Amino acid sequence: MHSTVRKSADVASAKADLLVVCVPAGAKRLSGPAAAVDAALGGVLARALKDKEIDGGPGSAARFHTGGALPAPRVVVVGAGGGSAEDWRSAGGATAKSLGRVATRSVALVPPDDTTAAQIGAFVEGLGTGVYRFDRFSTKGEGTTAAPGRLLVHSTTARAADLARADRVVEAVNAARDLVNTPANHLTPTMLADYAREVAAATGGLTCTVLDRARLEKLGAGALLGVAQGSAQPPKLIVLRYKPAKPAHKGEVLGLVGKAVTFDAGGISIKPASRMEEMKMDMGGGAAVLEATALIAALGLPVEILTVIAATENMPSGTAIKPGDVVTAMNGRTIEVINTDAEGRLILADALTYAARQGATRIIDVATLTGAIVVALGEVYAGLFGSDEEWTALVREAADESGDLAWPMPMHERYAPLIESATADLANASNKRQAGSVYAAQFLREFTDGLPWAHVDIAGTGMVGGKGNGFGVRLILAVADRLSAAAPV
Ligand code: BES
Ligand code: MN
Ligand code: ZN
Repeated sequence: MHSTVRKSADVASAKADLLVVCVPAGAKRLSGPAAAVDAALGGVLARALKDKEIDGGPGSAARFHTGGALPAPRVVVVGAGGGSAEDWRSAGGATAKSLGRVATRSVALVPPDDTTAAQIGAFVEGLGTGVYRFDRFSTKGEGTTAAPGRLLVHSTTARAADLARADRVVEAVNAARDLVNTPANHLTPTMLADYAREVAAATGGLTCTVLDRARLEKLGAGALLGVAQGSAQPPKLIVLRYKPAKPAHKGEVLGLVGKAVTFDAGGISIKPASRMEEMKMDMGGGAAVLEATALIAALGLPVEILTVIAATENMPSGTAIKPGDVVTAMNGRTIEVINTDAEGRLILADALTYAARQGATRIIDVATLTGAIVVALGEVYAGLFGSDEEWTALVREAADESGDLAWPMPMHERYAPLIESATADLANASNKRQAGSVYAAQFLREFTDGLPWAHVDIAGTGMVGGKGNGFGVRLILAVADRLSAAAPV
């Protein structure tokens, strides 16, 4: 979607297939552009307000024909709620839902005078992500209506640069969704690596290096290689680097680490058949850090980034790793593999070690790591763990602001016995059936080399209603925004 500014801020000059006006929550009477539409339509909106068909609630929408009274054939009145970014994203989402099957090529938003750039940006995000469809593998075509290609923002205060940024955010979130939704036979670790190379080639300041099996063997990445050995598809460690021209904090390198299991069958500790197809989404963390990195580079934020994505399948076979096997991670720690389905923490162990060695000074990892976090927090909040209070607090604030919500979860020395092994330095799982997500986080921390580290478990939020939702992209962007500020971090 391409968003542009129109300086004529009145509904009579808005020429588009659909006109959008907003009403705040609890409005007693219409004002601004909504009142102007109401006047043109002879009081239809005022009556709808009285009947509570229009109530201004976030996510609400009521659509009307204009019958030639305005240049736009249709108008939708969306709720702006209390005016928060979340409410404006919902307003964009409600606009997307209101399109139904009516072909809509262009949308014109005429926001109230006092609408801020942040609110308009949030609307663009809500609309652009709201009209997203994954139809790459559908040959039907019928019943699917093309998403609007143009948004015209009629405002005297909106700035083109803000709209361009919001459009780019939408592009990144939707690209991450595409990756998550793509079936595993169309997105192997090799294909993901090729895609990362393409993205880097198309983005200024971004470079991509892919470590193949031979390189990983030389590095002693026994944990990642152990998971990969059951699959016919070779593993890849995808490394992206973004160096801004003028970093806000010289010497600071944000490490982004992502889990990209392109299919998680569980390995020898195989998963039940029911809903196993959803495990094509087990690369959602990798998708988020990849698209966020490209986004931050495209926006030219002054934050140096090192992104490390561990990509592999987790398959059962005659060559697969077995329960009881011991692997040696890149940092030399030995791990007893109690459960081959706890593969995420194994591959992240080596990715975290690599990120620390390559110069990351603070790290966030994003991973669809545990079923336990789905039980604890569902599809609303991701689980947030961390080793450094300030860093974790910054990530939490960024999460809140971005709409990619993350709730703090505990770590404590008294959980340490969970990850003990009788045979090796660590065990990747236990049969205790306790604190499964904390266990995974405690395990990961062993590979963070004492750096400030935050871990976002997106097993519940990475896919909603069986569809990838690009969770994590906006969270990381909000983190990078904070690190772009001049104040010391
Ligand atoms: N990829 C799964 C976690 C997952 C579960 C993601 C549900 C999305 C939805 C992960 O690799 C896994 O299998 N975790 C196991 C760990 C257990 C064996 C210790 C789990 O959570 O059951
Ligand atoms: Mn698994
Ligand atoms: Zn997994």
